[in-house]
Amino acid sequence: MSDIKSMGLYRNVERIMADLRASGFDGTSPLTVDDLTPYDQYHYEGTDAVDDAIAFLGANPAAHILDVGSGLGGPARYIADRSGAAVTGLELQPDLNETAAALTVRAGLSALVTHVNGDVLAGDAGTDQFTGLVSMLCFLHIPDRASLFANCANALQSGSRIFIDDYYERGELTTTEWEHLANTVYCTYLPDQATYVKQMEAAGLVDVQVTDKTNDWADFVGDRLGRFREARPELIARYDEATVESLDHFYATVVDLFGGGNLGGLRVTARRP
Ligand SMILES: C[S@@+](CC[C@H](N)C(=O)[O-])C[C@H]1O[C@@H](n2cnc3c(N)ncnc32)[C@H](O)[C@@H]1O
Repeated sequence: MSDIKSMGLYRNVERIMADLRASGFDGTSPLTVDDLTPYDQYHYEGTDAVDDAIAFLGANPAAHILDVGSGLGGPARYIADRSGAAVTGLELQPDLNETAAALTVRAGLSALVTHVNGDVLAGDAGTDQFTGLVSMLCFLHIPDRASLFANCANALQSGSRIFIDDYYERGELTTTEWEHLANTVYCTYLPDQATYVKQMEAAGLVDVQVTDKTNDWADFVGDRLGRFREARPELIARYDEATVESLDHFYATVVDLFGGGNLGGLRVTARRP
């Protein structure tokens, strides 16, 4: 497997500036969260999924939520904007993190949203700080689940809730599917549902509940690819051909993987006792 930039979604992250220009915003103009959400949600089902996280975590102005793998900061800003909660976004890739921080300034949310460039496996989430944790489509990149869940649990105050959207191994993935996951999605390990729950419980988390999202996400990624291909000529002009090619390859690979029936999607909720 090559590095995380083998995944097309993470190349040319500055393309969001071209998206914003296409919507009429120049490089410095103030933005609302709603101006950004068409472009800054790097997970499935957009802000509907984040609304579910806000409700489950009980985000409110007294809360401090940790977003693990915060990407361009879309979910973090949306949670802060809609609920008044403070949110810390922890993001591994420096370019994504810098762009996220710049967008947060432009959205006027710097008092509520903090961006940290770091690795959840390195303990960069801190200890006993947060009142809730959200993580969307990040854990699929992290094979070391024991360290991951231990660090997530440690980051939380007692009684805090956790909301995760992630992949799982629904049927036995073939060698070819594993190659596609490794080479195009930066994913080399997935548990089945029962193993997922056991791994979280081994980290001391309780009330672990799983909802299968496979069918919803298969529909979502299919629609996403269709919309992308319809807009292809416009997007080549907006970004460049190489960016469009690598995004197309990424989106199409994910459609094929869900279509094969062995890749699954799940939502997991839990609590630190
Ligand atoms: C598919 S993106 C989702 C971003 C964001 N959660 C969203 O929904 O818009 C997953 C993110 O997790 C980040 N990530 C992967 N491994 C990480 C780690 N060990 N620590 C922190 N972030 C990580 C990636 O760099 C990437 O930006």
